[in-house]
Amino acid sequence: MKRPVRIAVTGAAGSISHSLLFRIAAGEMVGRDQPVILQLIEVPRAMEPLRGIAMELEDCAFPLLHSISMHDRFEDGVVGAHYVLLIGARPRGPGMERSELITANAPVFAGQGRAINEFANRDVKVLVVGNPANTNALIASRNAPDLSPAQFTALTRLDHNRTRGILANHTGANPRGIRRISVWGNHSSTQFPDLGHATIYGEPALAQVDEHWYREQFIRKIQRRGAAIIEARGHSSAASAAQAILNHMYDWINGTPENDWVSMGIVSDGSYGIEKGIFYSFPVRCDYGRYQIVQGLEISDFARDRMRETERELLEEMQTVAELLPEDTEASHRNLSVCLRSGITLYDDGISLPEQYLQTDRVL
Ligand SMILES: NC(=O)c1ccc[n+]([C@@H]2O[C@H](COP(=O)([O-])OP(=O)(O)OC[C@H]3O[C@@H](n4cnc5c(N)ncnc54)[C@H](O)[C@@H]3O)[C@@H](O)[C@H]2O)c1
Repeated sequence: MKRPVRIAVTGAAGSISHSLLFRIAAGEMVGRDQPVILQLIEVPRAMEPLRGIAMELEDCAFPLLHSISMHDRFEDGVVGAHYVLLIGARPRGPGMERSELITANAPVFAGQGRAINEFANRDVKVLVVGNPANTNALIASRNAPDLSPAQFTALTRLDHNRTRGILANHTGANPRGIRRISVWGNHSSTQFPDLGHATIYGEPALAQVDEHWYREQFIRKIQRRGAAIIEARGHSSAASAAQAILNHMYDWINGTPENDWVSMGIVSDGSYGIEKGIFYSFPVRCDYGRYQIVQGLEISDFARDRMRETERELLEEMQTVAELLPEDTEASHRNLSVCLRSGITLYDDGISLPEQYLQTDRVL
């Protein structure tokens, strides 16, 4: 049996976690032969409901669930973590502006970045889900000077999956037959779900759909899908967010399928002319815990305009939180080269990984 890995989760008593934790314990995030320790983190007033969730997890008798701990201090909950899922965040209240949401959550993510830097495993992989996810990831990463910016990511896989699911439904294809979708930019209504390189059963997707429908309806539908779900069910997406988190982490750890790629919010290295240092969603390929931006894609003028628009929004968000971005981490975030996108969790259990992966070039 492998040694267990530690997975810290904030917002562990919230809606997304309720759809997520049981599936992690069943082996759907890291692998079906990998025992896990769940380090569940909540605010003090949610500790009692969290205790109930822990009891339910115990009652499922998952063979891979090694142990559970519960924490109302982030610094305790993140100790030794190999994976950190930052889901907990203050929700957007009625009439609240996006900029107000950003400033309300920003200090929390700065503190969490510092604690991850101090207490987590040196090869930790962090996924930020709490909104605004890209900018929260930037804040956390900039406050973790001893870790590589490549160890921090933001969730845009839900947007990627939405693009695939809705396109499948529209064309009558199975989602498995749809490949090479790219979601660019921010996890917000400016994101650009790009079908320019997508294929359906190996043939160009854009040749199989009406271009007017794609430009005028489809893109907007994906951009506004989150809001449409809140309107319809009164709560933001939870089960589909959990599915996206599992997909994001599983692919990051285990690799993307041949001939396909996924979308991840990661620190920009300037690829495709996107400003360095912001957390921007790119098409990426993963392999054994490393990821690289898919290079060389042809970008049309139509696509370029949309990529710029969502980039502008992220630059504005960065300005809003400027005082929480320490100067001493600016250089590492602006000078990340593609080859430095590494970070692999080294399991101290005697399994041997191919040598090239052990020699990863982490920024320390
Ligand atoms: N990136 C994405 O694709 C995506 C998709 C869906 C939802 N979200 C975001 O994910 C977040 C969580 O969504 P949800 O539906 O689970 O919300 P929720 O309100 O049901 O649960 C959030 C939980 O987080 C806890 N929490 C708040 N601040 C915390 C902190 N500092 N430390 C630990 N726990 C804390 C709350 O007590 C609550 O239990 C929201 O910000 C939501 O906007 C992102």
